[in-house]
Amino acid sequence: MLTLSVNGRTTAVDVDPATPLIYVLRNDLALNGPKLGCARAQCGACMVLVDGRAALSCQVKAGDLAGAQITTLEGLGTPETPHPLQAAFIAEQAAQCGYCTSGMIMQAAALLAERRPVLDEAAVAQALDNNLCRCGTQPRVVRAVMRAARQQGA
Ligand code: FES
Repeated sequence: MLTLSVNGRTTAVDVDPATPLIYVLRNDLALNGPKLGCARAQCGACMVLVDGRAALSCQVKAGDLAGAQITTLEGLGTPETPHPLQAAFIAEQAAQCGYCTSGMIMQAAALLAERRPVLDEAAVAQALDNNLCRCGTQPRVVRAVMRAARQQGA
């Protein structure tokens, strides 16, 4: 049994410690925000936060996360009170098929948490460079992140 802290809740799960986190999140905890794309650290669809830092959940072993605070898209906001990034993605209509969206938002959440003094569109695009989108929504994604950044005073 492993004990994981996910979205503010501590949960015991009966899994092999070598199991990649994304399988535990999706299969054992029914958290389907993170998506499995490549499983090779190449697409960003599986991005979550581990202790506030962006982490590819296809690459992190569940057994290495004792004591860590894991956050998925479900832990950022709620339909009633969305996180500024979630609201901005809706406002900018920054999703097409949506498969990459959770990973984009989690990567952006880590970026905004850094509170860089200067955050322009080029910096956002660079930060999201490893989050792939086949639908071509990147310009809208960048606008959404800039909208959320302005709301947060960045
Ligand atoms: Fe993890 Fe693609 S599924 S990076």
